[in-house]
Parts: sequence; structure tokens; C-alpha cells
Amino acid sequence: MIRFAVVNLKGGSQKTTSTGFLLAALHEVGLPVCGVDGDGENLHLQKWQEQAPLPWPVIAMPVSNLHVQLPGILGDRYEAVGIDCPPMQAQKGTVASAIRWATHVVITMAPTPTDYDRLAPVLELIDESASMRPDSRPPHFAVLLTKVNKRAASGGVYRDIIEEAGTPVLKAEVGISDVYAQAWGSPIKNALRTPYGDAAIEIMNMGQEGDQA
Ligand SMILES: Nc1ncnc2c1ncn2[C@@H]1O[C@H](COP(=O)(O)OP(=O)(O)OP(=O)(O)O)[C@@H](O)[C@H]1O
Ligand SMILES: [Mg+2]
Repeated sequence: MIRFAVVNLKGGSQKTTSTGFLLAALHEVGLPVCGVDGDGENLHLQKWQEQAPLPWPVIAMPVSNLHVQLPGILGDRYEAVGIDCPPMQAQKGTVASAIRWATHVVITMAPTPTDYDRLAPVLELIDESASMRPDSRPPHFAVLLTKVNKRAASGGVYRDIIEEAGTPVLKAEVGISDVYAQAWGSPIKNALRTPYGDAAIEIMNMGQEGDQA
């Protein structure tokens, strides 16, 4: 089972939008998927599911022991679970718990100086999680560039800076667009045909080459 946590240090960094589209893409592939809303302040993923409605369940679990609770609640019904995390700065315990349970961590960020500045604490938390995981290894992780202005150089510049520092960046990147800005609360159509579809496939393939998943 793929269990991906969508994480960033701060609020307003495309976590909920990305969780929704990634889950929708995996659903379109034919996988049984489930969303987990770890952000108790907003419960935006759960409300999106109810309002749209989205054709897969979302469980609200804004707690710091979701790595203990979720296995029993989810059982073996799902092949992909996506956790919409709260801002790590506000709810570090919940994010740490999600990272502890996740097979994959997706760090959403726009190619800007402030977003880049938020990356290091997230990488530190991923690194620290290793000692609490059964295999003593961190989960697979990668940056997903979002709100990329395709007409500017910033996407490529930040991709190079992050990759040179040794952090993987998904090949797929999400443009700045009203398609995503206005998506919340509505059905998600053809997610597989968006960059999120490519990102979902990359995530599924991460860790398939011999190391643990
Ligand atoms: N690719 C995009 N282009 C333009 N706007 C976007 C894009 N993706 C998301 N947005 C907008 O950016 C804002 C933040 O997105 P989102 O709510 O997904 O972030 P979040 O990290 O979950 O925020 P919070 O921490 O408040 O829950 C929203 O207004 C959303 O509509
Ligand atoms: Mg959110």
C-alpha cells in the first residue's frame, strides 16, 4: 500500500489541493484510495470530499498518533492513502506521526525564496523520523514544485538548487493556474491528464528499484 503524506512547514502551500489531485489521479488509475485529513483547523480535504462530492472516502484524523490509529481503521481496503497534513509549524506532532507512517512524503513548494527557506525543517523531520520507523530508514521523499510560472526561469532554477543539494524533485511540476486555484469544493475531473497524474505515477515508482517501499 502506498501511503503518502503531503507536507510543508507553513500554511497555504498547496498541500490540500495536491493531496486531492494526487488521490484523484490514483483513483482514476483504478486503485482503491482513501484520503486522511490531518488538518483539524480547516478539515479542508474532508469538506472538499463532502461538498464535491469526491468518489472516495476521507477520514478526519488530526491527531499526533495517526501512525498508531490508521492501520486498524483502514485495514487492507485501500491501495493508496494520502494524508493532507497541517502546517508543520503549528502541528508538528501530527506531521511527525504522518511521516512516521508514510511510505512516501511529498513536499509541495512554489519556486520562491520563502518556500525554499521552508524546506530544511521538513527535511530534518523526515530524517529524524528514521529512528522511529520499523526499518530505521526514512520514507521516500521528493519535492513537488507547484504554482510554477512556465514563462519564468524560477521553476528550473529552484529545481537545480534543490537537486544539487541532494533532495529529489519530481519531474512533474504544477503550473500556476486557476484550474487549481478554483478547484476546492468541486469534482476533480481528468486528474490523470494533469501534471498531478504524472506526479502520482512517479510517486508510485519511487522505491521500486530494489530498496524498500
Ligand atoms: N497550482 C496552483 N496555482 C494557483 N493557485 C493554486 C495552485 N494550487 C493551489 N492554489 C491555491 O493556493 C492556495 C493554497 O492552496 P491549499 O489550500 O491547497 O494549500 P494548503 O497548504 O492546504 O493550505 P492550508 O495550510 O491553509 O491548509 C489556495 O487558495 C489554492 O486555491
Ligand atoms: Mg490545507
